[in-house]
Amino acid sequence: MKVKINQLKKLAIALIALPLLTMLLLNSASVKTRAAGDTPDAAALYKESKCVICHGPQAAKFFDATKPDDQLLETVMKGKKAEKPPNMPAYSEKGLTEEQAKALIAYMKSLKQ
Ligand code: HEC
Repeated sequence: MKVKINQLKKLAIALIALPLLTMLLLNSASVKTRAAGDTPDAAALYKESKCVICHGPQAAKFFDATKPDDQLLETVMKGKKAEKPPNMPAYSEKGLTEEQAKALIAYMKSLKQ
């Protein structure tokens, strides 16, 4: 009987400790992304923000790297209706900062080379 109670105690401790550990891990993960936000990690953003779905892993589609930067930046922030779908979504509405958009454009240019 004693053994069983001890086992129950261990189980209870494990059940309490597990979510705590998970929270700790999740917290440290979110700190990492925030730190990365200081200098935008364009490669990660390019995938997370779904740019890759439309523009492709090499930024080969719908992207003319020879256009002036401010024009490219405006398209990312304000979006652009294409002649036929898909349209370029307006990313300022999705909370993308201008700094992140600039990093993304530089990243897309580096992909094209
Ligand atoms: C739903 C599909 C889609 C997604 C998602 C998308 N784009 Fe676009 N994007 C387009 C299309 C289509 C165009 C071309 C619009 C046009 O000029 O007709 C475009 C245009 C652009 C341009 C201007 C290119 C040029 O030659 O004028 C840039 C820069 C750009 N996108 C960057 C991004 C970035 C960065 C992301 C992610 C944050 C992103 N796009 C996500 C579809 C998408």
